[in-house]
Amino acid sequence: MPEKTRKKLKGGVVGYGGAFNMGRHHLEAMRKAGVRPAAVAEIDPARLQEAGEDYPGIGLFDTVDRMLRESDVDLITIITPHNTHADLAVQCLKGNRHVVCEKPLAITTAECDRMIAEAKKRKLTLSTYHNRHWDGCITEARKRIERGAIGDIVRIEAHMGVQGQPRDWWRSSKSISGGILYDWGVHLLEYSLQLIDSEIVEVGGFAKNGFWAPKTVWGDDTNEDEAFAVVRFKSGQWLTLCITSLDANPKPGWVEITGTKGSYLFGGDSWKWITRNRDETVLREGKNPPWEGESKRFYKNVADHILDGAPLVITPEWARRPIHILDLAARSARSGRTLKAKYG
Ligand SMILES: NC(=O)c1ccc[n+]([C@@H]2O[C@H](COP(=O)([O-])OP(=O)(O)OC[C@H]3O[C@@H](n4cnc5c(N)ncnc54)[C@H](O)[C@@H]3O)[C@@H](O)[C@H]2O)c1
Repeated sequence: MPEKTRKKLKGGVVGYGGAFNMGRHHLEAMRKAGVRPAAVAEIDPARLQEAGEDYPGIGLFDTVDRMLRESDVDLITIITPHNTHADLAVQCLKGNRHVVCEKPLAITTAECDRMIAEAKKRKLTLSTYHNRHWDGCITEARKRIERGAIGDIVRIEAHMGVQGQPRDWWRSSKSISGGILYDWGVHLLEYSLQLIDSEIVEVGGFAKNGFWAPKTVWGDDTNEDEAFAVVRFKSGQWLTLCITSLDANPKPGWVEITGTKGSYLFGGDSWKWITRNRDETVLREGKNPPWEGESKRFYKNVADHILDGAPLVITPEWARRPIHILDLAARSARSGRTLKAKYG
């Protein structure tokens, strides 16, 4: 249906936090995609007041319960700390609203499954804000690799972090954030899973704890100092993810893909493509397309899906895949055993 004649969705956010002003970011992205910003639920009065100043006349609610009872928003985006995503999403779905959850979809696979089941039962849309799905670094990598630049992919190594004390914010709390792998690790996995299109078979996890813990506000609940996951795929390919806060000699880039005919390494800004010609190393390098933050594209797809049945790009099953890896990695690190995947 042409956009001008179809119904306009009303959008709301849960969480209008100050760390990156993400509530405003989402409401602006909704607006650009034709979804009208209509409500904000926020438990911090100062942040709720800020939302009212940014959006005069918008519905302001101090609880999600009140927002569900007193506003008629169709689509709600959850922008809160990770350990609250599952319960808030299920609450909004039970209130018969479509839901977008900031990444990560949740902390455990069981939480993801509970959210997906509720959305299916009510025939509502559930998605995750994987706006980085279209980042220049991964679209550029896919373009080259899918044209055969490095032959067949053998393995992917994703990594991020340097030596440094975790900040005094909720992201450094294991019980609130899920752990050190759950912030940027989710983005790096979402990039990597675009390149390895195969079922997850099993995951091994490793973690070093206790170096930073005595020095942070979170004490024993501090994130791992470093965590590492190894994923085996049905295709025979494998993937590693390492996020660290104690590596004095961090590896360059974010994701390195080793193929039968070459290697491709990318970070946010640039890429390197390395092949061998007899005994010579051939290095090509360049800049990724500029970061455009495909927020409008994300919400346009969600709105088109809700209103016209267009295929949803970021399905909840897609968003469950990195969480399943991280959940298995955390449990494997605790138990010291590799764990089999379930619907990987
Ligand atoms: N996609 C991205 O690039 C990107 C960037 C930044 C943050 N994020 C994600 O956004 C989410 C939030 O992160 P942030 O940096 O905005 O955190 P933040 O701490 O700045 O904001 C969180 C807000 O949620 C509010 N809140 C908590 N529980 C609530 C509840 N029950 N009802 C209403 N409000 C509640 C808090 O009061 C706070 O203001 C996380 O999932 C994070 O990973 C994603």
